[in-house]
Amino acid sequence: MDFKDMIRVIPDFPQAGISFKDITTLLKDGEGYRQAINELKALVAHLKIDVIAGPEARGFVVGAPLAYALGVGFVPIRKSGKLPYETIEVGYDLEYGKDTLAVHTDAIQPGQKVLIADDLLATGGTIATSVRLVEQLGGVVVGAAFLIELVQLHGRNKLSGIEVLSLLNYE
Ligand code: PRP
Repeated sequence: MDFKDMIRVIPDFPQAGISFKDITTLLKDGEGYRQAINELKALVAHLKIDVIAGPEARGFVVGAPLAYALGVGFVPIRKSGKLPYETIEVGYDLEYGKDTLAVHTDAIQPGQKVLIADDLLATGGTIATSVRLVEQLGGVVVGAAFLIELVQLHGRNKLSGIEVLSLLNYE
């Protein structure tokens, strides 16, 4: 299946110079969505994973079905102020803008092997921040999985020592 045919590219969104990869056109295709998750599952099959963590919001759309398919739990990493229990927070720069991510302090047990999943790796700021949150809780990040990697932004350089697995590369 050619997933790139199912991903819509919007030039200059949300600001000039950004070529936005719109996965909603893949998500609404039942067979395409299922097969994309199944292929990601195959990509991470060699990793020992106790739990998947995914950053809001599009990380939920990839991480939660992948966790379900693998039979492991899912931990939401959310923007500041959204989680109801005690949290830790880390600020970060985005490809366009700034934000703060948070996770519940009891979301991950020390020593648990964690896969971080998201729709897209751009500058790597979101995932590097997610890694910091997981590691602050004592989790061990065993990999990072994406539907899409924007290779020219070299996000994987922020993830040295972590296995980075992507279904699709865009220049
Ligand atoms: C997007 C995308 C990734 C992140 C990638 O999320 O879903 O999480 O940016 O960029 P980076 O590698 O440069 O950090 P966004 O923060 O736009 O939030 P959303 O998923 O809620 O739309």
